[in-house]
Parts: sequence; C-alpha cells; structure tokens
Amino acid sequence: MNTRFRHAGLFAFVVLCVSAPLRAETPLEEQMDTMKAAFRSIKTAMEAPVDGDKDKYVVFADELRAAAIKAKEFDPKKLGEIPAGDREQFLTDYRQSIDQLVVLIDQLKTQLAAGDWDGVRAQMRLINRVQGAGHERFRSEEP
Ligand code: HEM
Repeated sequence: MNTRFRHAGLFAFVVLCVSAPLRAETPLEEQMDTMKAAFRSIKTAMEAPVDGDKDKYVVFADELRAAAIKAKEFDPKKLGEIPAGDREQFLTDYRQSIDQLVVLIDQLKTQLAAGDWDGVRAQMRLINRVQGAGHERFRSEEP
C-alpha cells in the first residue's frame, strides 16, 4: 500500500471517530443529546453522591435546563407528519411538555443543592416519565 493511501485511510478513520458521537441531524437532536449527557452525569453521580460535590451536580442540572430551554425553540421533525390543521396544537403541546420538564428540573436543582439524594432519585424517575411520554408523542418513528 503506498503512503498516500495509508494517509487517506488514517484520515478517514480519524474523521469517523470524531464524528461518531455527533450524530445529531437536527438542532433539536443536538439539544436532546446535551440533555442526555447532563442527565447521565447526574445519574452516575447519584450512585455514590458526595455532599462536597453538590455545586458540581447543580451545574449538570443547569446544563440540562439550558438545553431544555433551547429545545423549546425548535420544531420536532414529526411536525411534518402532522396534518396542517393540527400543527399549531401539536407545537403548543410540545412546548407545554418542555415547560413541564423545566419545572421538574428546577425542583431537581433544589434537591441537589440540599443534598436530598432520595428526593433527587425520585425526581429523576419523574423526569424519565416525562421524557418517555414526550418521546412517545412528539418524536418521529422515521429514522
Ligand atoms: C431529560 C429528558 C430528556 C432526555 C434526556 C432526552 C433525550 C433525547 C435523545 C437522546 C434524543 C435523540 C437525539 C438524536 O437522535 O440525536 C431525543 C429526541 C427527541 N426528544 Fe428528547 N429527551 C428528553 C425529554 C424530552 C421531552 C420532555 C420531549 C418533548 C416535549 C422530547 C422530545 C424529543 C423529540 C421530539 C425528539 C426527536 C428530535 C427531532 O424531532 O428533531 N424529549 N431526546
């Protein structure tokens, strides 16, 4: 194999590695990916929470909140599958569901700041439920 081929192969490999975690196709997916990372950080932290790290956990929740606020600005892909006459209601409901999520995140922040770890775990279950319902209703099944 000549050197140019080897370099091209190496370049392709590096591009693939770098782009793999960035699979978001839409601005909304990008925010959802950020939410996923922040939520996962809190979940991992709650396996063995440390009182002295409360501030760090609140920062994760702030990241989750900021991404949720941004997500509200974007239209879900599924909007294109909704009959024209129902689209306004679909968007109103979508934004209301994000608002509901933000209320839950604010409560989560209070619990994290207070070191109420059991409360945090229960709240994360509630957030999981809102996530599940949100995805069921507003996420397209199309790839
Ligand atoms: C903490 C809560 C949530 C997390 C961690 C989360 C995470 C995610 C992830 C990882 C994706 C896939 C992104 C991709 O394929 O790149 C996604 C997609 C999506 N999520 Fe969420 N989600 C949450 C809550 C919600 C809520 C409450 C709603 C609705 C109000 C929602 C609506 C959607 C929609 C519509 C998509 C498809 C993206 C599009 O249409 O462009 N999610 N979410």
